[in-house]
Amino acid sequence: MGVGLWRLSWYHLTTMTFLVAFLLGALLIQYVRMRRVGELVERLTPAPHGSVAGAAPPAGEPPSPKPPSRDVAAHAAGETPEAAKRPWSGSLRVAAVFTETPNVKTFRLEDPQGDDIPFTFLPGQFLTFSAEIDGRTVRRSYTIASAPTQRGYVEIAVKREEQGAESRFLHDQVAVGDPLRVSGPSGAFTFTDKDADSIVLISGGIGITPMMCVTRYLNDRSYLGDIFFLHGARRPEDFVFREELDYLQKRLANLHVAATMMDASQANWPGALGPISKEFIARAVPGIARRRVHVCGPPAMMEAVKASLLELGVASDKIKMEAFGAARGRAPPTAEQPPGGLELPAQRGTNVADAPQTALPAATAQVEFTVSGKTVPLGPDQTVLEAAEAVGVDIDYSCRVGTCGICMVPLKAGAVTMDVEDGLPLEEKAKGIILACQAKSIGSLVVEA
Ligand code: FES
Repeated sequence: MGVGLWRLSWYHLTTMTFLVAFLLGALLIQYVRMRRVGELVERLTPAPHGSVAGAAPPAGEPPSPKPPSRDVAAHAAGETPEAAKRPWSGSLRVAAVFTETPNVKTFRLEDPQGDDIPFTFLPGQFLTFSAEIDGRTVRRSYTIASAPTQRGYVEIAVKREEQGAESRFLHDQVAVGDPLRVSGPSGAFTFTDKDADSIVLISGGIGITPMMCVTRYLNDRSYLGDIFFLHGARRPEDFVFREELDYLQKRLANLHVAATMMDASQANWPGALGPISKEFIARAVPGIARRRVHVCGPPAMMEAVKASLLELGVASDKIKMEAFGAARGRAPPTAEQPPGGLELPAQRGTNVADAPQTALPAATAQVEFTVSGKTVPLGPDQTVLEAAEAVGVDIDYSCRVGTCGICMVPLKAGAVTMDVEDGLPLEEKAKGIILACQAKSIGSLVVEA
């Protein structure tokens, strides 16, 4: 037997070399494995509100040729996508226009390059549109009516208002192929299949759009809970999405649709008549006191419905409401409202700029805008955003209800109150940032804008 290195036999040296090589190979395999596990964990880490990673994608969702992004995967798994909280802005192309009722059209929008829509959203959120109309920039928000599970397009349903610059622009001038400037999504009036084991959706007029979004989404998610869809409109021909709801109700045992019309004298209407009353709600929804309820419509209708819900024993923390037409925190136009609390609904943002403005109490303070060098009186009921607009100081905004955070500006001096701060992260607030659309003060302010 020969003698090798360190006086070991060649047999020993060969065996040791083999064992070392085996050990290195095992370590290499383990390293590759751990990297793959790390990548998998990264992909499947749920968003803050999410919970069910790796669930099956929704039925009917078209297969994507690309690997799903984390946000798309989150939607498929019913999670809250991160991007739903990130404002996006850009251009979308009008892919189709559908006439829903004599004065409501659906606008289908797609990515100009034909990709998936470049943002994700939660059922119930809205988009803000801006356009140059008659030499001024007009911004209006419209709730998304299509489901977030639909990645190829996004749809809004818009009611044409005689006094609404943006809605008239969309109805009368926008055609298939046109680009639209869009930002969003925004809004906290959302419902996902993880939020409750049943849902009551109550809408008036064009307030039906977020409810339709939620219903379409819950259908795509094969939601097993009961969905009570209660709707009020002026006349049967104004009942937006009526055919689709009829169709869905025939297919889904858990979808219960009940509608009431203010005036059915000119139509063969088999359903209820009158406003959405306590009796109507009680008939349509068994055991309503234990259920989560979402209400959307103009303030008068919502207040009447909320009072009915409270009388029926629904706890106020189970009632979620979103007003249309009150984005500026002022009284919406009432001239067209029919009696009994049911509306001619003003769509979110529609008519706001054209609404009769109530006289503001005399200003007791002023706000100085340091960037633009302008100073303006600030009434006690006036927001910083409204004061800025009064003197042409440009502060960007979207929702005007304190949820999107787009109107954040630094407050350099003074103190403000804000009714809603949902769109203001605590760390920003700690740095002295305010929401211009919510900030009011009875003292003078200095704002960086
Ligand atoms: S505009 Fe959305 S929070 Fe002010």
